Amino acid sequence: MKFIGINGSPRKNMNTAKLMKSALDGIESCGLKTKLYNLYDLNYKGCYSCFACKRENSGSYGRCVINDDLKPIFEEIDTADGLLVGSPVYYGDVTGQMRAFLERLMFQYMLYTKPPKTLRKKRLKIGLIYTMNIDETLLNKVL
Ligand SMILES: Cc1cc2nc3c(=O)[nH]c(=O)nc-3n(C[C@H](O)[C@H](O)[C@H](O)COP(=O)(O)O)c2cc1C
Repeated sequence: MKFIGINGSPRKNMNTAKLMKSALDGIESCGLKTKLYNLYDLNYKGCYSCFACKRENSGSYGRCVINDDLKPIFEEIDTADGLLVGSPVYYGDVTGQMRAFLERLMFQYMLYTKPPKTLRKKRLKIGLIYTMNIDETLLNKVL
C-alpha cells in the first residue's frame, strides 16, 4: 500500500511540513510506503478548463492531459491507496498552489451527474492537515 503526501506550504521545514513528516512517519511505521511532494518545487498551473478529461471514448477520459510537473504525480496518485494533503491556512483557505493542485486533481475524476460520481476506479483514503496561527482573541471574535 502506498500513501502520497502533498505539502502545499512554501516552507519545507516549518509547521505544515513538520506535521506532515510526523504523520507520514506514523504511516510508514504501519508498514506502508510513503512519498512526499512539495508543491512549491513544481511548475504547474490550475485547471485550464480544456475538458479533454470529459471526452468519452478518448485516451484522455478521466485524465488530465496537461503535460507539466503534476503529470507524473497524478499517475502515482492514480494507483495510490492514500493521500495526505497539507496546507497552511492563507486568508481562510488553502494556499494558492494547493488550490491549483486540487482543481487539477479533482476535475479529471469528476462526472457531471446528480448525485456527482467519480471516474476514479480505486478508493483513496484522505488525510488533511491544516496549520494556522490566528490568536485566541481574534478567534473568539470570529466564532
Ligand atoms: C499569506 C498568508 C496568509 C495567512 N492567512 C492566515 C489566516 O487567514 N488565518 C490564520 O490563522 N493564519 C494565517 N496565516 C498564518 C499561517 O497559516 C500559519 O503561520 C501557518 O502555520 C504557516 O504554515 P507553514 O509553517 O507550513 O508555512 C497566513 C500566513 C500567510 C503567509
